[in-house]
Amino acid sequence: MVEKLKKIWCDGEFVDWDAATIHVLTHSLHYGIAAWDGVRAYQRKDGASYVFRLREHIDRLFDSCKLCLLKPAQSPEAIFSACVQTLRVNGMVDGYLRPMVYVGDGAMGVYAPDNTIHSTIMAWRWAAHLGADANDRGIRAKISSFARPHPASAVVKAKITGQYTNSALARAEVKHAGYDEAIHLAVDGYVSEASGSNVFLAKRGVLYTPDLASAILEGVTRDTVIVLARELGMTVVEGRVTREQLWLADEVFLTGTAAEIVPVREIDDRRIGDGHVGAITRKLQERYADITRGSDTSHPEWLTRVGA
Ligand SMILES: Cc1ncc(COP(=O)(O)O)c(C=O)c1O
Repeated sequence: MVEKLKKIWCDGEFVDWDAATIHVLTHSLHYGIAAWDGVRAYQRKDGASYVFRLREHIDRLFDSCKLCLLKPAQSPEAIFSACVQTLRVNGMVDGYLRPMVYVGDGAMGVYAPDNTIHSTIMAWRWAAHLGADANDRGIRAKISSFARPHPASAVVKAKITGQYTNSALARAEVKHAGYDEAIHLAVDGYVSEASGSNVFLAKRGVLYTPDLASAILEGVTRDTVIVLARELGMTVVEGRVTREQLWLADEVFLTGTAAEIVPVREIDDRRIGDGHVGAITRKLQERYADITRGSDTSHPEWLTRVGA
C-alpha cells in the first residue's frame, strides 16, 4: 500500500493528494496510451537528496510520447524542474517519482487526436521492488509463457501503460507458480527482459545483455551498469541472448530503477552458478550503491541536487 504524501503535480500546479483524481472517461484508461517514467531520488552520504539520471528519464518520457504521437503541453525542462519541485513540496529526500503524460476525456473513439493531453507527477516511497532480501539472497525467476510483443506489433521502446498488460500477466503467472519474477522471451525465442527490469548474465568474467534492437525497454539502469562495468575493466557484449545462456551462466542479475541490481539465483528451477550471489553482481551492486546513495562523485552528470 502506497503511503500518501502531501501533493501531486497536475498540469502545472500542485493539488492535494486526494484531490488528484481523473474522470472515468479518461481516454488513456480505456486504450492504454499513457507515457510514464520511473525515477529515483536518493539521500546520499553527504545528507543531501539527489535525483538519479533525471535527464535520461525525462528524455525517455518524451521519446515514449513521440512514439505514441502524444504532445505534452509542457517542455522537457518544465517537467524536469516539476519533478524536483514535487520532491521538495513533499519533503521527500529518498523515494520514487513517476511523471506521466496521458490523454484526457472528450472523444471516446480509439483515435482522438483533439483530446487534451495532461501531465502529472506523483512521488511515493518505494521499498525493495522484489522483496526485502532480494538484493542479498537473489531471487527465483521463471521464463514466462507471455512473450514480449514483436516490434512490428507494438512500440516496444515506449514506456506506456498498455505495454504493462504483458508484464502484469507474466508476473501474475509466475507468482502464482511460486516464483519471484518473470523473464520474457521475445517472439523470436531470444531473451528479452524481466517484467520490470533488464537482464544481464556473466560467463567467464564477460557480461552479456540483449542489445537495443531486441524487444526491450532501453533501461537507464542497464546503461549505468554497462558504463560501471566497463570502468571496472569488464567486457560487456550487447547482442542476442538465449535461454540456454541464462541456464549456463555463472551469474544472472536484473537491473531497473525500482529493482536496482537484483541477483537471480534460480531460473526455471535450475540453479544459476553456485546458487549464491556472484562476485561480479556484488561488485556492481556496491558500485551502484556508492554512485546512487554513497559518496562517489565520479559521475556528477547523473546527479540532480534536490535542495531545499
Ligand atoms: C519493462 C521494463 N524493462 C526495463 C526496465 C528498466 O528500466 P530502468 O532501468 O530505466 O528503470 C523497466 C523499468 O522501468 C521496465 O519496466
